[in-house]
Amino acid sequence: MSRHTCVVGLGWGDEGKGKVVDLLAGRHDIVVRYNGGANAGHTVCIGDRTFSLHLLPAGVLRDGVAAVIGPGVVIDPLSLSREIAALENQGMEINKNLRISDRAHLVLPHHTLQDRLSEQRAGDGGKLGTTVRGIGPCYADKMRRMDAVRVCEVEDRARLRERVAEILARRFRELGSLFGEDGIPNDLNEQSAAFCNACAKLVPFICDCSEYLFGRVDAGARLLFEGANGVLLDVDHGTYPFVTSSATGSGGVANGAGVPPSWVGRVVGVTKAYSTRVGSGPFVTELEGSLADYIRTRGREFGTTTGRPRRCGWLDLVTCRYAARLSGASALAVMHLDTLAGLDEIAVCTAYETKSGRIMRPPARLDLLKSARPVLEKLPGWSEAIRDCPSLEALPAAARSFLRRIEEYVGCPVAIVSLGPKREQTLVDETALEC
Ligand code: IMP
Repeated sequence: MSRHTCVVGLGWGDEGKGKVVDLLAGRHDIVVRYNGGANAGHTVCIGDRTFSLHLLPAGVLRDGVAAVIGPGVVIDPLSLSREIAALENQGMEINKNLRISDRAHLVLPHHTLQDRLSEQRAGDGGKLGTTVRGIGPCYADKMRRMDAVRVCEVEDRARLRERVAEILARRFRELGSLFGEDGIPNDLNEQSAAFCNACAKLVPFICDCSEYLFGRVDAGARLLFEGANGVLLDVDHGTYPFVTSSATGSGGVANGAGVPPSWVGRVVGVTKAYSTRVGSGPFVTELEGSLADYIRTRGREFGTTTGRPRRCGWLDLVTCRYAARLSGASALAVMHLDTLAGLDEIAVCTAYETKSGRIMRPPARLDLLKSARPVLEKLPGWSEAIRDCPSLEALPAAARSFLRRIEEYVGCPVAIVSLGPKREQTLVDETALEC
């Protein structure tokens, strides 16, 4: 088995990848983010302290572990400097171990503005429900190869100032004619200056990440690739168009981190014991009313990035298996098992009933997916509080059967079970993790 590991979310984000990355970071030397941007939200609890991460790889919280933001990530320098400052205020020193790819792209203020204005115009019925962090518009400019600014350009400050001022003036003007002048800020010069100042703070971290990673791996380093968002938000394989704009699964690692595909070895697929989704888009197992509230409240299901209440539903094994297969998951991490405690009965979705018949794979067609009804399999619940359970064997029988059903359906062993937000509230089956 390869020395390197990839952690991917098997849902629509928010699966608890941050906790798994934090846990596994101690067994690796470098954590590499390969996709997305500040749309991601990772919460890591260490002792009594809670840290919120958006762009920084969760590895920054481990001593002696380097953190790399790869070329496939889109970076908003303003948001990154705020994130670094917030961690420093909490007493974390992260700078010396951080590296940022010179080939990554920058999210400019007009990207964020465009994201917000498009969502506002689309309204409740039509919007994607983005995180409004400018992710889609930035990736679009990258692909169009127009007005895209890469991190390497930050080193020439005079040229950067000139380019950014020109791009912003033109793009703000264009947005004004598309969406109306009312939504366009009139502090262009200030925005341009603040952006360039934040860019200047990136300079000490910029490097050719591939070269850096090759050198470290030659010297024996083990890498941990940290996926953001989740496979169901993947631009090619997710519930399109209600997806993000990057390759979120293990397929995105090679390009997004700048490493050979053969380096993707062990893949840990992370799912919650139930499903959640923020933003718009189909969600076959979605619950409403008191059951949804029970899960939302106990699981603290409110977005780390936007604070939005998350939609909650039963664990969708159909999408879980689909995502695990696509990612080549070799082990599963099941998070928030404690959240389900106290329910007499729980359920998992094992198939979809659609107008074209019963299916066990999410259809590409949005109309089919939207109208699909979940085929639910009922399982007994458990009443015991399990947060401090010392081992997998000591879990209530119903919780163990639930985990076994997931393994059986997805075809992958459960290696990590999370029973609460803290590092120590985690059970690990070392054999399953290594296989
Ligand atoms: P964007 O990535 O901001 O363009 O948002 C596109 C869709 O992905 C929206 O439905 C967002 O709510 C969702 N999304 C993006 N990143 C995350 C994440 O890390 N967790 C949960 N949802 C996300």
